[in-house]
Order: sequence, then structure tokens, then C-alpha cells
Amino acid sequence: MRAHHIDRPADLDDVRESYDRVADNYVHMVRTTGMGDIRTHPWLKASVDAFADSVSGRGPVLDVGCGPGTVTGYLAERGLDVSGVDLSPRMIEHARRLYPHCRFSVASATELDLEEASLGGVLGWWSLFNLPRAVLPQVLALFARALVPGGHLITATHVGDEDFRRTEAYGGVPVRWTTHKWRPEQLTGLIEQAGLRPVAELRLPADEHTGPGVVVMAERPA
Ligand SMILES: C[S@@+](CC[C@H](N)C(=O)[O-])C[C@H]1O[C@@H](n2cnc3c(N)ncnc32)[C@H](O)[C@@H]1O
Repeated sequence: MRAHHIDRPADLDDVRESYDRVADNYVHMVRTTGMGDIRTHPWLKASVDAFADSVSGRGPVLDVGCGPGTVTGYLAERGLDVSGVDLSPRMIEHARRLYPHCRFSVASATELDLEEASLGGVLGWWSLFNLPRAVLPQVLALFARALVPGGHLITATHVGDEDFRRTEAYGGVPVRWTTHKWRPEQLTGLIEQAGLRPVAELRLPADEHTGPGVVVMAERPA
């Protein structure tokens, strides 16, 4: 039995099947438009660079909800010992093809068996918004426990109050998932409750492609 129990989201299978269906279009979008690639967004890239600097030398890094591995591959290029995990087998197929030098596995953030104080860094990069509201705090607590003292979490997510039910995504592909939006202060509150100390926050206004977002970086106190 895992030391850390996390409730299984009731819609986990729907979410997995949905991301399997959109994975090919998602990869095509990243490749052809640069959307979803931090290299095309200076502020997102700066956040990930600051995270990389902060976790360098502290231990392995885990990119949870890594999708096709864009950030995992970037961090590996920067010399970090990084691996990726994602709910969607199709996303992981792409990640393994695109970044064959990185380690990837298929699993839900809610089913990870992470040793206490085993990670220098953990990412939930635009990948935790499908977790039901009651489940996100449990996953954040798992991450907090898995970090070494001085280790860092970085997460990016959609800002708002609503639970937005999506029925299509990435070029009209039918999906069934809910985007649980968070107000920045709610998210940082949950991160603090999980035992981490927020160290930076970046707010992203809505633009022509997407709604507002927030990036939060937090540290496990020494
Ligand atoms: C918008 S994509 C972002 C992917 C990647 N982080 C990136 O920035 O390109 C969201 C990803 O979160 C993954 N995901 C959703 N729920 C998850 C869960 N419970 N556990 C692990 N991954 C999950 C999806 O399969 C999908 O690949």
C-alpha cells in the first residue's frame, strides 16, 4: 500500500482517452506554431530557467503531466537528471520518439509512488488543471513530501473560478475533461497548506490564444 493515499478522480479514464485522442494534434501544434513550447514564450522560458537553476545539483527532477516531453527535453538539454510521466500513453509514445535520451513512463499524478525526499524538483506544467478540486491538494502534498529540503515545485495553470467542461480541443478533436481554473491566491494557499513555501509567482494575462494563467514556484523549507 502506498504511504500517501490519493483519491482516484472519477473521470480519470475519460481524461486519459481524451488526451490520447488529442496527442497527435497537440504535437503538430507545438511543432508548427510553437504554442506549448516554452522556447517561443520568453516569460515561460524564464520561469523554467529559474526553476532549472534552483534545482540544479539537488537531485532528480520529475515532469508530471509531461505530455510529449517538450519541457522534459528542454531540462535534459540543460543538464538536469529529468524524467517525465504522463497519464496518456499516446503522449508518452510521442515523448519517447521526440526525446529518446530521456526516461518517460505512463502513470497518473494520483498514482505515483514517490519516495520521501527523493526529488530535487517536480513540475506540474499546465498538467494539474484536470485534477478535481479535492484531489489537487492531495497531489501537492505528495509532491511536497517527495521533495528534498530546498527542492522546488513549479506549476502553471489556468486562472479563473469556473470548472469548464471541454467537449473539443486542439483542432476540434472530441474530448471529455474539465478544466478546473484556480485563482492565484487559492493556488498559492494550497501550495502552502501542502508544506511548501511559495518563492515566485508570474501572472499571465489572457491573449488571443488562451485565457489568463499563473506560474507558481515553491520550495520545500530546509
Ligand atoms: C496541456 S497538456 C501539457 C503537457 C506538457 N506539460 C506541456 O507543457 O507540453 C496536459 C497534460 O497533462 C496530462 N495529464 C492530465 N491529467 C493527468 C494526470 N492525472 N496525471 C498525469 N498526467 C495528466 C495530459 O495527459 C496531458 O499530456
